[in-house]
Amino acid sequence: MTTTAPTSVACVFDAYGTLLDVNAAARAVSGELGDLWEDFSILWRQKQLEYSWLRTLMDRHADFWSVTGAALDHADKALGMDITPDLRARLMALYMTLEAYGEVAGVLDALKAKGLPLVILSNGTPRMLDSATRHAGIRDLFDAILSVEEVAAYKPHPSVYQLAQDRLLIPRERILFLSSNGWDIAGAASFGFTTAWINRFNRPRENLSHGPAHELRDLTSVPELVEHLRR
Ligand code: LAC
Repeated sequence: MTTTAPTSVACVFDAYGTLLDVNAAARAVSGELGDLWEDFSILWRQKQLEYSWLRTLMDRHADFWSVTGAALDHADKALGMDITPDLRARLMALYMTLEAYGEVAGVLDALKAKGLPLVILSNGTPRMLDSATRHAGIRDLFDAILSVEEVAAYKPHPSVYQLAQDRLLIPRERILFLSSNGWDIAGAASFGFTTAWINRFNRPRENLSHGPAHELRDLTSVPELVEHLRR
């Protein structure tokens, strides 16, 4: 990627929950999962995140594909779902092709038209991110897709946010970091990024050391926000 002028702004996106719908896999087979499909999907995601944080704290990194599988198995047992090996395989395959939220492609196109560097910074493995973004038709809009695998630690460890800064080579506060995950926003703000919390799920703010600089319901108004930040 070319180095940007010091006054420019770059957008760094979280992937899961921000661009990609983490409930899309379970929803696609909800008929087979039954009434508990949504509880299962929520617990699967919650355990996936917990395992990522715990593994980094324990210094026992395993990649996001393996963490996602381990979390699936825990949620299955915890809720007594009795997921068959075939359905498990399909759920995991669906995670490779998660749908993007409805407004994502249009917003990325608009940001790209403004000439902004667009980057993904995610827990996902390079293979997971490449597959899901290709499937969603947004792969080519990004200048870089950065995976935590480069540092073998998960967000919100500062070494992860450092990856984006090392790539973009602009001051931290000129990097607009966008995530629907409140804890990810806390980590990014603590690192020094300007943050926009995409509060898709209408959650209260996290009570952590750093909160979001901006809060949006979805990504629709990001092009407008960027214009404001560029001034
Ligand atoms: C990610 C997780 C946090 O994409 O959703 O990094």
